[in-house]
Amino acid sequence: MGLNNRTRVRAAWVIAAVAGSGLLGLAGIAPTLAQNAPAPAAAAAAAAPDMASIARGLTIFKTTAQCVFCHNWDGTGARTEPMEDLGRTFDKPSFVNTQLDPGGIEEAARCGRPGTIMPRHERTSWTSDHKCYGLTKEELATTPLQFPLDPVGPGSRYLQDQEIKDVANWIIYAYKNGGMNKEKCVMYYGATNRNCDSLK
Ligand code: HEC
Repeated sequence: MGLNNRTRVRAAWVIAAVAGSGLLGLAGIAPTLAQNAPAPAAAAAAAAPDMASIARGLTIFKTTAQCVFCHNWDGTGARTEPMEDLGRTFDKPSFVNTQLDPGGIEEAARCGRPGTIMPRHERTSWTSDHKCYGLTKEELATTPLQFPLDPVGPGSRYLQDQEIKDVANWIIYAYKNGGMNKEKCVMYYGATNRNCDSLK
């Protein structure tokens, strides 16, 4: 569980992409990696959080898109056992430690992650107008990577642009910015739920 396995899964994905797609891999995936480097946080941190968007994002995370199914209510990705699919075992990354900037989080939510169980949530993703990691579906097909799953989990569905932004805002607010605490827990579960009692 945890960072090592997660890094291994990610590294396998990128190596496969680059090996399988030659120029495309380098042209398409490499810039994404560069973009995944730690964000210049100052500007983002200074902006006041958009609480209305964050609240909508929570509902999407929890109910509409069932992100919680794999990423856990506190964004740690921790589950009692890793999830098996596509012939492999996946650990879910912790959003608390994510290196992704807001654009990177939105791209993962829109596009999914090829060759993993991370589904895509934008219906038009991987088309020429809405490329993913620099690629269209046809270009990805020249690599050994499997096209991402459609939305999974009970009742999950494709999301609108604003919904993608909203759920990314929840992930940044609740998890990336220091992880879970009492106030965010109460937002998640409601004030009367005992789950938050032990948090500060
Ligand atoms: C079926 C399980 C599953 C569901 C449902 C799911 N994810 Fe994921 N998600 C994963 C896995 C597994 C990864 C790691 C993929 C990899 O190794 O690159 C991941 C990766 C991510 C990442 C990249 C994190 C990082 O630091 O690299 C983001 C952001 C993300 N998911 C957001 C979401 C959002 C938002 C939703 C709901 C709209 C969602 N996920 C639903 C399994 C899932």
